Amino acid sequence: MRLLGFTACLAMLARSAAAIELVIGNEDSVKAAASTIAFGLVKYYTGNNTGDTPGNLPDPYFWWEAGAMFGTLIDYWALSGDDSYNAITIQAITHQGTENGDFMPRNQTRTLGNDDQGFWGMAAMSAAENNFPNPPADQPQWLALAQSLFNQWASRWEDATCGGGLRWQIFTFNNGFNYKNSISNGCFFNIAARLARYTGNETYAEWATKIFTWQETVGLISPDHHVRDGVHINIADGTCNSMDQNEWSYNTGIFLHGAAVMYNHTNGSSIWRTRVDGMLDGARSTFFDPEANNIMFEQLCEPSGFCNNDQRSFKGYLTRWMAGTTQMAPYTFDAIHPLLVADAAAAAKACVGSPAPPAFKGHAGTACGFRWTTGTFDGSTGVGEQMNALSAVMYTLVGKVAAPVTADTGGTSKGNPNAKAHEEIGEKPITIGDRVAAGFVTSAIGLGVVAGCAFVIS
Ligand SMILES: *[C@@H]1O[C@H](CO)[C@@H](O)[C@H](O)[C@H]1NC(C)=O
Ligand SMILES: *[C@@H]1O[C@H](CO)[C@@H](O)[C@H](O)[C@H]1NC(C)=O
Ligand SMILES: *[C@@H]1O[C@H](CO)[C@@H](O)[C@H](O)[C@H]1NC(C)=O
Ligand SMILES: *[C@@H]1O[C@H](CO)[C@@H](O)[C@H](O)[C@H]1NC(C)=O
Ligand SMILES: *[C@@H]1O[C@H](CO)[C@@H](O)[C@H](O)[C@H]1NC(C)=O
Repeated sequence: MRLLGFTACLAMLARSAAAIELVIGNEDSVKAAASTIAFGLVKYYTGNNTGDTPGNLPDPYFWWEAGAMFGTLIDYWALSGDDSYNAITIQAITHQGTENGDFMPRNQTRTLGNDDQGFWGMAAMSAAENNFPNPPADQPQWLALAQSLFNQWASRWEDATCGGGLRWQIFTFNNGFNYKNSISNGCFFNIAARLARYTGNETYAEWATKIFTWQETVGLISPDHHVRDGVHINIADGTCNSMDQNEWSYNTGIFLHGAAVMYNHTNGSSIWRTRVDGMLDGARSTFFDPEANNIMFEQLCEPSGFCNNDQRSFKGYLTRWMAGTTQMAPYTFDAIHPLLVADAAAAAKACVGSPAPPAFKGHAGTACGFRWTTGTFDGSTGVGEQMNALSAVMYTLVGKVAAPVTADTGGTSKGNPNAKAHEEIGEKPITIGDRVAAGFVTSAIGLGVVAGCAFVIS
């Protein structure tokens, strides 16, 4: 009895010492909470271990989510000044940028979609905009990496089906090749808008306008600014009348932020302001739970508890892009900041879990759950949960740091407007040697690569 009581008491002490204390508005408190959550996040990463591959998260996390995580860590550094993770971030992005500087790593070919590349590209863009330490000169540079992606996407834009747009997948052999979706086109739009603002090159702005208009024309952005998931290509005639109407938080977020960047780039044009306002309304009315104090939720799957690994990270991106919107369209700050603050408080209350490794390897009592609407830890852990909560807490600092720079206002990253996929996989006949080097084991996949060639060339 006595021993048990003592142990229980120790456990309780440990718990109360570890739980995340967060005093919103107190910068030190926010930074300390963010630091604790970031520590738990990075503990999932193994890519810097000897023998592992820099940039990769272990299973079950896909390649793109690692890109999203490093993008989050760049913002973490920009907001908090804590450079603990800069070294692994530089190592990861330059490694996955590959020696060609094109975010087309051969190891990922079997699942490489335009959106997957996009999350790495947005990390590189954030690095340029925040003057994140530049990589050594012989490595791919942040701005050039984003420009390379822009150029790849522009060359993959396809008018023959759906009247335009990017397909989800790059290669014919991947599921989703016949689907044009909002996140792929959203990544293209978001980076085009940011390149326009950063470089002042109007070609990027023209593309941003074209992508947004296509989204509207095909119905993926509704007249009341709701963003739908994607359209299926009718292979027989190239029309696209079958739509997945689902609304995911990251789709609205990525267009909201890109529109805010365009608003800024055009010195406050009314057309982009209308779009920012519309999408902000769409986000508020869709992804904030009116039955739970208007706390953010992933409305399609969170109530039922069936969000998959990918979906369990989306709230973090909506948070990121809402915060970024307040920088690009400062008039939105008063509307957005209170939402961010309420989410931060709610998310911190969900960061009190103590599951044993491998579910969580951070400090006991600080694991973050998925739901922010319950006031406590819901037992769900992972990179998404941890990254969402880190975002919720750290982006409350957004009004306290300088806005992203441009080439004219102190940006130092070296660009290359003509950078593109140096050796797009499939652009040349794939040899047996290539297949072995790329780790392909079945000839079926090898044949698929050759088939992918036809699309890329045509
Ligand atoms: C990997 O990076 C983390 C975070 O910076 C660090 O704590 C850890 O020691 C690194 N691992 C190795 C093997 O260097
Ligand atoms: C591809 O996989 C090999 C073998 O695991 C690894 O050595 C290499 O670093 C990987 N390349 C990239 C860009 O991830
Ligand atoms: C925005 O303002 C800047 C500085 O006054 C000017 O150089 C630029 O041309 C303007 N852009 C637009 C689209 O009006
Ligand atoms: C564009 O962003 C900058 C940086 O936040 C801000 O100072 C400026 O007011 C913004 N422009 C407009 C039109 O809101
Ligand atoms: C502007 O961007 C386009 C598209 O990438 C590129 O072709 C052009 O060379 C760029 N212009 C300048 C002046 O950099």
